[in-house]
Amino acid sequence: MAVLVNGRAGAPVDPLDRGLQYGDGLFETIALLDGRPRFLDWHFERLADGARRLRFPEADFATLRAELASAASGESRAVLKLVLTRGLGPRGYGPPATAEPTRIVASFPWPATRTEGLRVGWCRTPLGRNPVLAGLKHLNRLEQVLARSEWDDGSLDEGLMQDELGNVVSATQANLLARIGGAWVTPELSACGVAGVMRRAFLGWSAARGEPVVERALTRAEVEGATALVLTNAVAGAVPVRALAGRALAEEPAVAAFNASIGQP
Ligand SMILES: Cc1ncc(COP(=O)(O)O)c(C=O)c1O
Repeated sequence: MAVLVNGRAGAPVDPLDRGLQYGDGLFETIALLDGRPRFLDWHFERLADGARRLRFPEADFATLRAELASAASGESRAVLKLVLTRGLGPRGYGPPATAEPTRIVASFPWPATRTEGLRVGWCRTPLGRNPVLAGLKHLNRLEQVLARSEWDDGSLDEGLMQDELGNVVSATQANLLARIGGAWVTPELSACGVAGVMRRAFLGWSAARGEPVVERALTRAEVEGATALVLTNAVAGAVPVRALAGRALAEEPAVAAFNASIGQP
């Protein structure tokens, strides 16, 4: 595993960095396939949106691109992680007048490819609604950490999360698509959730086939009654859910067709 901090392999991160002190930062997890970071422009778009909304200086994408290539160090297939924090600042929450963001770029081995669908349950940890942060992949992920620690016995592969009003939002590390009444539906993300790059890819692909995905609020009862469920993230692509809380679900042929279209291993 290679880790670059501000372009230097193995350099330390300052313990007073605001990313560590306050979670004041953003991240991206990117699939490297055939030596190329997949959907890099969309990852950079989300990062740029986050930087603007958190009032970071504009990110230097040419440098980030070069550092991703350097961390990948000639690998053909890997998982690249990019963290951008606000860097250092005076003690206290107030951000520095001129921030100098910290860049952390790491490369991890590609995970084993799944051959079976996912066993999914319901998490009890609610997601807070906050439109100011909705959609961003920011460094505050305590809700997901608590949700993911609700099971450790290997009985489930993922858990679905609801916001404080009961709307279904996503899984702990993936977006959700549900087949309801013969149409694809996905939770709208104006109040919470991460606007996933793979969700975006699926929405674009499905719309191009004349089957636009409906983005709207989804209740738990609707998800429980769906004929098929799919989880998406940038590394795994689209993965069918084979059982929700023990109830078996069918696999939609569209999932394999989509994965083929994005070159998912
Ligand atoms: C909470 C959450 N939602 C959604 C996603 C999917 O986002 P992406 O498709 O960009 O990987 C992730 C990815 O890790 C996530 O952690």
